Amino acid sequence: MGDDIVHRRITVRRFGGPEELRTVRATLPPPQPGHARLRVLAAGVGFTDLMARSGDYLLQRRVPFTPGYELVGEVVDAAPGEGDEAAPPPPGTRVAAALTKMGAYSEYVSLPLRRLVPLPDGLDPVRAAALPLDYLTAISVLETHARVEPGDTVLIQGAGGGVGQAISTLGRLRGLTMYGTASSPGSAERLARHGVTFIDYRREDVERRLRELEPGGVRAVFDHIGGANLGTGYRALAPGGVLVSYAFAGRPGRMVADTVRGAARVKLMNLRPGRRTALSMVPAEIKAGPAWYRESLARVLQLAADGVVAPETGGVYPLTDAARVHAALERREITGKVVLTPG
Ligand SMILES: NC(=O)c1ccc[n+]([C@@H]2O[C@H](COP(=O)([O-])OP(=O)(O)OC[C@H]3O[C@@H](n4cnc5c(N)ncnc54)[C@H](OP(=O)(O)O)[C@@H]3O)[C@@H](O)[C@H]2O)c1
Repeated sequence: MGDDIVHRRITVRRFGGPEELRTVRATLPPPQPGHARLRVLAAGVGFTDLMARSGDYLLQRRVPFTPGYELVGEVVDAAPGEGDEAAPPPPGTRVAAALTKMGAYSEYVSLPLRRLVPLPDGLDPVRAAALPLDYLTAISVLETHARVEPGDTVLIQGAGGGVGQAISTLGRLRGLTMYGTASSPGSAERLARHGVTFIDYRREDVERRLRELEPGGVRAVFDHIGGANLGTGYRALAPGGVLVSYAFAGRPGRMVADTVRGAARVKLMNLRPGRRTALSMVPAEIKAGPAWYRESLARVLQLAADGVVAPETGGVYPLTDAARVHAALERREITGKVVLTPG
């Protein structure tokens, strides 16, 4: 087995602003049984990374930690596991992975073999690194929780965001009729490209507008804001419909308490008869369903290789620019999915 690898990774030393993201040297020992070491080719940046860096995230890591839930890498070496662990891929194999405890902003990582999903031939690592978390979330809300069928009508709150676009893209492939809320300039055109009818949540009364468009209500609502949006979404449902919550936009510094409160409210709403509510938490779903994870990610990667799925990119930046990227995202100077490359 190989030697220790000395490399660079991005670490949050203490919770705070983008300036707390520092490049540090680290040592990666040879892989444990059932693990592989990967040279990271590209790591996706998600809104969740910004929350975790501030110390304001429900599944918060303790400092110091390395952010990043998703990556594409090349296998350096691997150690077989015991029992029914996946067989170790040969060195040089390109794989994608969603992580359950973050750590993707790094030159090298060690991951369990069951997390590695081979990249289809010809798929660009940068394009692939933008997919895992957003598209697994989209599959979770559409398939696991809402169980939508072709022809169903849905409302996607924040349809222009990373997850919103993933829901729209997969929703279109399923033949859904989709309405989406957004506010940033160009949203109407951007949503229309995914087959989504735009509702401006800053200028329009979303509930009233949706009632005009769909008097009978919609089959499913997908929400990551919480608060008043939960009531709006619930009232927009047709009988038998489902409201799926996958995040709560809490007050800065109180995000965790607000998320817990929001989740409790969603569970209570589910006690009412006639409609359903559900919570999606993908890191937990990956851990609980390794087969679901592998099948879903493989399917998304193949759709990307076939050119059917192509997330709007917000740019590709060197790994060591992570702090600048977080700052630009916070100032909303970048839209679309950002990917960091260590090379
Ligand atoms: N459950 C899970 O496992 C899971 C997985 C991944 C992500 N998440 C969470 O999901 C959330 C979204 O992530 P993301 O990466 O898609 O974020 P993102 O790319 O930053 O998108 C968020 C979008 O929300 C929209 N928005 C903001 N306020 C809104 C409001 N009041 N009503 C409707 N839309 C509003 C914004 O649209 P405009 O700019 O057009 O206003 C923005 O495009 C985050 O909280 C993230 O932590 C959860």
